[in-house]
Amino acid sequence: MSPAASRRRRPRHGSARSGQPARRPTADRVELRRRLASTPRWNQACPRDLSPPPKKAEAATPSPEGWPSRAIRARLSDMDAVEAAFDACPRAGFLPASVRRRAAFDGPLRIAAHQTNSQPRTVDAMLRLLEVRPGQRVLDVGSGSGWTTALLAHLVGPTGEVIGVELEPELVTFGTANLASTHQPWARIEQSAPGVLGDPDHAPYDRILVSAEPRSLPKQLVEQLGPAGRMVIPVAGWMTLVEMPGPVVSEHGAYRFVPLR
Ligand SMILES: C[S@@+](CC[C@H](N)C(=O)[O-])C[C@H]1O[C@@H](n2cnc3c(N)ncnc32)[C@H](O)[C@@H]1O
Repeated sequence: MSPAASRRRRPRHGSARSGQPARRPTADRVELRRRLASTPRWNQACPRDLSPPPKKAEAATPSPEGWPSRAIRARLSDMDAVEAAFDACPRAGFLPASVRRRAAFDGPLRIAAHQTNSQPRTVDAMLRLLEVRPGQRVLDVGSGSGWTTALLAHLVGPTGEVIGVELEPELVTFGTANLASTHQPWARIEQSAPGVLGDPDHAPYDRILVSAEPRSLPKQLVEQLGPAGRMVIPVAGWMTLVEMPGPVVSEHGAYRFVPLR
């Protein structure tokens, strides 16, 4: 064997010279590192991002109750739920045939009525900020292609309920057909009533997701939140989280959306 070949065959972990057993990371740690590395950070491509930096210390600090810490486990279970929703509802099923081959593109894609299916990384960020739990009632304002409605339906499960509202009749039909193919009858899409924002008749909601942008925070939507409700809505260029009771309002990075009409 040539010296070069022997160098190539050296084990990756531990030291062949010292004779010590190779120290390999456990399967759990490898999986955890993989998941943390693949988690999109808040709006990382955005130059106006004011969001807090990722909590690196949390990952490095051993906790008395063992490793990973309770905080990390909670974050991983959130990741699992959102990742599982994306796996169960692939974007391609919510796109017109003309752009379906671009489903993996991480940007908005045209659907109909001059509207878009949102950028996957943005949808991921919004769903994580929304913290949807099984059994909750969720309002999806601007359901468009039906993708976010289907993702939310997966997150709440059969004990929950999701109502999508959409202004464009053509998209109500398109979104409803796409949603039906996911077989989640606890979710539906309705035509918005003229002059009515959201769906006050079925309020209160545990969660509200808004995929179109108003110039200021709409009071009508805040009033549709339940006592411990959360709403994620882009307002005047800023991803905004509204938490009840309060409302407590916080901003989470800069984004651009189609206007809320
Ligand atoms: C970014 S697009 C759709 C994103 C959608 N969540 C998806 O997954 O495809 C936003 C949608 O909001 C709708 N919209 C705008 N203003 C609205 C309003 N007041 N009520 C309901 N839908 C509205 C638009 O017609 C458009 O389809």
